[in-house]
Amino acid sequence: MKLPRRFFQPLAAGAPEPFREVPIKLERMIHFVPPHNEKVRARVPDLAKTVDVVLGNLEDAVPADQKEAARNGFVAMAKATDFAASGTGLWTRINALNSPWILDDLFTLVAEVGDKLDVVMVPKVEGPWDIHYIDQLLAQLEARHHVRKPILVHAILETAEGVANVDAIACASPRMHGMSLGPADLAASRGMKTTRVGGGHPDYRVLSDPKGDAERSSAQQDLWHYTIARMVDACMANGIKAFYGPFGDFSDSAACEVQFRNAFLMGCAGAWTLHPSQVALAKTVFAPDPAEVNFAARIVEAMPDGTGAVMIDGKMQDDATWKQAKVIVDLARLVAE
Ligand code: GLV
Ligand code: MG
Repeated sequence: MKLPRRFFQPLAAGAPEPFREVPIKLERMIHFVPPHNEKVRARVPDLAKTVDVVLGNLEDAVPADQKEAARNGFVAMAKATDFAASGTGLWTRINALNSPWILDDLFTLVAEVGDKLDVVMVPKVEGPWDIHYIDQLLAQLEARHHVRKPILVHAILETAEGVANVDAIACASPRMHGMSLGPADLAASRGMKTTRVGGGHPDYRVLSDPKGDAERSSAQQDLWHYTIARMVDACMANGIKAFYGPFGDFSDSAACEVQFRNAFLMGCAGAWTLHPSQVALAKTVFAPDPAEVNFAARIVEAMPDGTGAVMIDGKMQDDATWKQAKVIVDLARLVAE
């Protein structure tokens, strides 16, 4: 199901027709900053040169009595830095739809910095109706403030109801940019027995072969495999991007790397980074492995029109592996640009 363009009307006089395409951009990490923190804000101009996306967070982790300061801090931050000059995306995570802050968030941000804002991340999306609401509100505010470029919408998948409606959310609006898994809220919504922000759990295990070696018998199962797979399918079926969300244990970069890599291999374009140490990790993980790129390039070269069957290093390649190879070669090219 694709929604008609009436969701964008009325347009501001002279405003361009909104487009549906999600720009092909490198978005390996969506780097979260707390805009009410003046010290962090002062570092944003430098930060913008090193990350793919800067996101000013207005929702969870911002105390209730700092919501206004965060909103105003975001406006200051957006005005002070030319994000477009470095090709860096400027996103915000607004407060939840049933919170007292959401209207002020959108009214202020679109009025003050609507032309600089690329994507609005919407938390706790439960169904397409939540996206329709944001869509209409953005259309009205863009029209009122003569915003020239449609602001895109990114949903966080972090409630059991949201997961049940993931396909309908993915195609709820031509504004949809993508979706992120929110493992912390999702764990709570599902009644999972955890106190973590993403990652595995030592008690959630793969049953091991009693004769296996020690390393194998301590292997962890990925708690998020099912939801990531569902999210990736819903996103790809609708031409939008999937992302892994946060990893909260900053002291465990090895586990963070594994979580990011599993998401990458399953089709995610990037992940959230909450700490500077995770930025380098995301850069490495969300780019294809050089050996894999070399092999993929050999497949593409061996089948110039993408059809037929060839053997490379004893492995059969055909039209389907050519398509897989193209994904890897195209991403490697984007990373190298
Ligand atoms: C992110 O918002 C999460 O709940 O994991
Ligand atoms: Mg959350």
